[in-house]
Amino acid sequence: MKSIIVIGAQWGDEGKGKIVDIYSEFADMVVRSTGGNNAGHTLVVKGEKFVFHLIPSGILHPGKKCVIANGVVVDPKVLLAEIDRLKERGYLKDDGQLKVGLLANIIMPYHIVLDRVREEKLGDKKIGTTARGIGPCYEDKIARTGIRACDLVHPDSLAEKLRANLDLKNFLLRNYYRADEIPFQATLDEYLGYGKRLKPYLIDTSSFLNEEINRGAKVLFEGAQGTLLDIDHGTYPFVTSSNTTAGGACTGSGVSPTKISGVVGVSKAYATRVGGGPFPTELFDEEGQRIRDRGHEYGSTTGRPRRCGWFDAPVVRYAHRLNGLSGIALTKLDVLTGLPRIRVCVAYEIGGVRRDEVPLSLPEFEEAKPLYEQVEGWKNDISSAKEFGDLPKAALKYIRLIEEMTGVEISLVSVGPDRNQTIVRKNPFRS
Ligand code: GDP
Ligand code: IMO
Ligand code: MG
Repeated sequence: MKSIIVIGAQWGDEGKGKIVDIYSEFADMVVRSTGGNNAGHTLVVKGEKFVFHLIPSGILHPGKKCVIANGVVVDPKVLLAEIDRLKERGYLKDDGQLKVGLLANIIMPYHIVLDRVREEKLGDKKIGTTARGIGPCYEDKIARTGIRACDLVHPDSLAEKLRANLDLKNFLLRNYYRADEIPFQATLDEYLGYGKRLKPYLIDTSSFLNEEINRGAKVLFEGAQGTLLDIDHGTYPFVTSSNTTAGGACTGSGVSPTKISGVVGVSKAYATRVGGGPFPTELFDEEGQRIRDRGHEYGSTTGRPRRCGWFDAPVVRYAHRLNGLSGIALTKLDVLTGLPRIRVCVAYEIGGVRRDEVPLSLPEFEEAKPLYEQVEGWKNDISSAKEFGDLPKAALKYIRLIEEMTGVEISLVSVGPDRNQTIVRKNPFRS
């Protein structure tokens, strides 16, 4: 029995989709446990690109079961569009390959509108959300007023809950935000329609997963977002509304921590962030633009340019502390090729004092100045390297420095977006 969690060790978009696709080959099922369609996970297979927002990134492997568990907030319109698109491209031939948790909370139209108008009202203090309704949906879940997948197939229950929600949401939209109200009947009809189409996929996912695990199945948990976006441990309020750290995989799926055998943290060889919030190593110069251009650092969900900066070791050490990383999958090393020198932030200076750890307070994090170590760059193209021995000495030195600074072994190096541009040093399902 082996179950592995893959999480983002930075601010999201580390390349989790690609890594999950690679490990999927060795797993029996792939599970999304947290987040929603704020995620955008990109895979490239033989030059063909796929971006998944809700469906687990294992779906391109026929026969591997893909589960959207109860902890995910599901926008049914987005999920159905994703299902349709996959079928058009010749995948998901068997509907039994995809399972959706009956208890997953549903993103409703008022969540999306509230996300938008709230950000507008915040002006330059806005969080920079993906505007997908994620925060408002999780709020209702915690307030115990949410609508769940099981409600979509029970017209009376859906009508009652929708009416109660609209009473308050429309009051807010009309009187506080001066925005259009959400109509009751049209919304009810629309969501009952989604319920009909989603019904074949809806099951008790926790029961399903545990039964399969007890039978010996290997499960791969696909994290969404990144450690520093965690609601409890991230750069609050510039975070998402769920637990993006490893524990979220267990609570969101209903699979016990005792069933987990390892956690792989995905990290870029540099750092990026979308939306507001502290980012000590951010580059505002040509070097930052060069990384953005070479790494195509534009959001897979919103298309926004990603903020780019140097690798921040205290951030990844923090991710190690919170997630107990058994290895790092280091992505986008190829993007750094050609830079004369590469920097790694090893600690911060805050108020004139050296600090080795990520500060808990937001003002301190905002003030943190990175203290760098510098290594030489390399010129040779590494995008077809197949093993560590194919990498230039300078790249190997850089990898060693990251291992030293984070205290975690680099178990995989990714040298291009395609599935086959990957150097696997240690397979978490085999070691
Ligand atoms: P995720 O949200 O963590 O799955 O990451 P995203 O898909 O949002 O962003 C990662 C981007 O980097 C995608 O466009 C990937 O195709 C791309 N990518 C992943 N690994 C590599 C790599 O090693 N090199 C390059 N050049 N691109 C990569
Ligand atoms: P993946 O899974 C990067 C960021 C948003 C914003 C903050 C809150 O592709 O790595 P939200 O819409 O969740 O309320 O936005 O979180 N964010 C992400 N950034 N990658 C993601 O997902 C993200 N999901 C949310 O940009 O700063
Ligand atoms: Mg992404």
